[in-house]
Amino acid sequence: MEKFIIRGGIPLKGHVEICGAKNAALPIITASLLTGETVVIKRIPKVSDVFTLLKVLKTIGCNYFWKDDSLTIDSSSITSTNAPYELIKKMRASYYILGPLVARFKKAKVALPGGCALGTRPVDLHIKGLTALGVKVEIEHGYVSCKAKKLKGHRIMLKGPHGPSVGATINVMMVASLAEGITVIEEAAMEPEVIDVANFLNKCGAKIKGMGTPIIEIKGQKKLKGIDYSIIPDRIETGTFLLASAITKGNVTVNKCLPEHNLALLTLLREYGVGIHEDKNNIRVSPPKTVKPLSIHAAPYPSFPTDLQPLMVALLSVTLGNSTVVETIFENRFMHVPELIRLGADIKMIDRYTAIIQGVKQLSGAPVMASDIRASAALILAGLVAKGETHISRIYHTDRGYDHIEKKLKKLGAKIERVSDPTAP
Ligand code: UD1
Repeated sequence: MEKFIIRGGIPLKGHVEICGAKNAALPIITASLLTGETVVIKRIPKVSDVFTLLKVLKTIGCNYFWKDDSLTIDSSSITSTNAPYELIKKMRASYYILGPLVARFKKAKVALPGGCALGTRPVDLHIKGLTALGVKVEIEHGYVSCKAKKLKGHRIMLKGPHGPSVGATINVMMVASLAEGITVIEEAAMEPEVIDVANFLNKCGAKIKGMGTPIIEIKGQKKLKGIDYSIIPDRIETGTFLLASAITKGNVTVNKCLPEHNLALLTLLREYGVGIHEDKNNIRVSPPKTVKPLSIHAAPYPSFPTDLQPLMVALLSVTLGNSTVVETIFENRFMHVPELIRLGADIKMIDRYTAIIQGVKQLSGAPVMASDIRASAALILAGLVAKGETHISRIYHTDRGYDHIEKKLKKLGAKIERVSDPTAP
């Protein structure tokens, strides 16, 4: 295993280029299976979640090759519709294989992804959506088995107890693209990644309207065709570097991003006190004169994203005054808090959804452990301003969502090294 060693205290400076969005790349890779023709997807981030998904594709008989950051997928000779537990357990988003397989082959058997560090994370909304479209779903021996004689469009409400589901909206949209008749998804997720998948499908010949609103209408087609497509920039990686600039009082320009996808964050950062200068595809964060504590509510898009909540907690930990951070989506999304406390942060959990942060002047470096992708990014941000050395272990979590984050941070002046971790279990 590997770990990061960070020496804090350097304001970041310079330019950083953003990769394609992981959360759009994963479903678009599986959506390519709907066509059976060759698909070329550009701007795929080289993160380990993508490599895990590609292993799943390989086991079912798909061929692919890379050229730089562009991936060519040929799913013309799929040999199996079963996705095994050994691979699925590594990444929850493997459920994106279910929809396309059942849509194209009328059957699929995919291991249940189970829970993860963020909580139980059920798949009931995915199952509800597929069932409504005519899929017979059975759960046995840890697998979701799907069979369908005929797929037929339907009106489906996809809201769960924590709001709309990104994954279920996308899975249903993919199946409905090849179902007979019209499907209407109500209370659909509105995230930019949902829109990107819909745009990809439409370019393949699907007929989808309303993406980006709570009501999506899909007119099923007999067949989809292979295309070339370039995915959107990663708004969470964008936010990570904006927040890294803010926490180090740096001057970082984030290039090749889409500011319109980060409106909630940009509004909060302006209120916080940093300078924000944006044009169509770039955002520059300049150092603040004074900073203000904030009250944050992480909720479905267009609200502030849950995936940036841990990083915001890191920023507010070193912002004098009282801040409040409320999480509304995941039941267990404050795993970074005990680790930030080890670095000297003063954070109290009121309940499992609410953190009260009393900002401190200075954090101090210590060994800490990453628990998920974004918690690891929060610890990196904290390490960048902590006094002395911070050692972050279990950085395989970081690599699931960031393509060599340490290289980009180094280019901005950070003192961060990836080293092997002989003490890891
Ligand atoms: C996606 C993102 C993840 C992000 C999350 C919320 C990917 C690969 N991951 O995850 O980074 O944090 O959206 O923006 O795109 N739920 C149910 N039943 C279901 C499905 C979900 O109750 O069948 C619940 C979840 O437990 C959660 C909420 O709905 O409380 C939202 O989850 P969802 O939007 O589905 O998250 P993912 O698509 O898994």
